Amino acid sequence: MEATARTVAERAIEAAIWAPSVYNTQPWKFGVEDDRRIALRADPDRRIVVADPSGREMMISCGAALYTLRLAIRHLGHEPDVLLLPDPDRPYLLATVVIGAGTGEDAATDPDQGRLYEEIFRRRTHRGAFRGDPVASSVLETLEREAESGGARFLVAADEHVQGALAGLTQAADHLERATIEYRQEVAGWAPRPGSTRREGLLDDAYRSEDVSTEPHFPARDFARGQGWGVTESESESESEGGGGDGEGGGGREPAGDLSTGLVALLVTSDDTARAWLRAGEALQRVLLRAGVDAGLSAAFHTQALEIPELRAFIGERFCSGAHPQMLMRLGVPAGEQMASVRRAAEDVTRREPTSAW
Ligand SMILES: Cc1cc2nc3c(=O)[nH]c(=O)nc-3n(C[C@H](O)[C@H](O)[C@H](O)COP(=O)(O)O)c2cc1C
Repeated sequence: MEATARTVAERAIEAAIWAPSVYNTQPWKFGVEDDRRIALRADPDRRIVVADPSGREMMISCGAALYTLRLAIRHLGHEPDVLLLPDPDRPYLLATVVIGAGTGEDAATDPDQGRLYEEIFRRRTHRGAFRGDPVASSVLETLEREAESGGARFLVAADEHVQGALAGLTQAADHLERATIEYRQEVAGWAPRPGSTRREGLLDDAYRSEDVSTEPHFPARDFARGQGWGVTESESESESEGGGGDGEGGGGREPAGDLSTGLVALLVTSDDTARAWLRAGEALQRVLLRAGVDAGLSAAFHTQALEIPELRAFIGERFCSGAHPQMLMRLGVPAGEQMASVRRAAEDVTRREPTSAW
């Protein structure tokens, strides 16, 4: 059934807020006029200034929300007309989206579109090991195509030494970041102590109390800052349906038998502009939703090395043929429990406003 325009704008925003965002900052705001036009704005007050001074990761996060808007509008039976960065004098106005005339029953009932739409709400960032199953090459080709349609490239790090180098660089970056008080304070601002009722940031059910070791090992960000908060391995194993882990109780840094690092991949762009970051975010969400729907894959992100300019430049030169790395991730079928996540309510990030205010 074709939804009314009002429902479309509201429902599309309700979907878009489930996009991934760095530190779960949800750095977006939406303006809606006459239920047919949506403005997507970055909210610079939510930028993580220490780890992301240029706002690159903020833009990637907003790009992921933008693709989600497009997908939801299509699923609800309308064609979105999107203009990226429409006004150079207003760099935080990232896109205007006009909800076109209804495309009718077909689009709304397209089963593939429907599965992608459901995946928006189901998808969660994974933090930990994956099961050992390899990712089929046909799936990889599909993900490469998705990334290209989004304006980026999906590069698989197939060589074990490249994987090892990327893991080592992530480890180095993690140490460099944690060595500064400013970084630790910023993480603390977005990862509150257990018991928090905030609808943003990393709550203690979003990460593990101990990093699960795989070979090569990509360290998880220490959102608990050494205080042992997070989901424990035994909680995770008892709640999972016997997937992975093999009952080894392999928490901490002990490598666990059939657990795997998963597929290591980079998302890269040929430019390194605000537009390229936005497009990278769109490509990211395309890849994530497609990976979930077609192959039941989840992603773990490790962006520490991309936040250290020298390491990011090195990774670009050495492993991306000079392209600009925007995201470093691992993909696979999660071993253990899915992590939780929260969002602010759609009405808290939406303003009814005339187009002239955009
Ligand atoms: C640009 C970007 C960078 C991210 N970097 C990391 C990271 O280094 N480590 C991590 O655990 N999650 C990372 N994430 C995932 C976010 O923490 C996650 O999307 C957010 O907490 C919301 O949770 P959800 O994806 O499960 O909905 C990143 C996400 C984005 C978009």
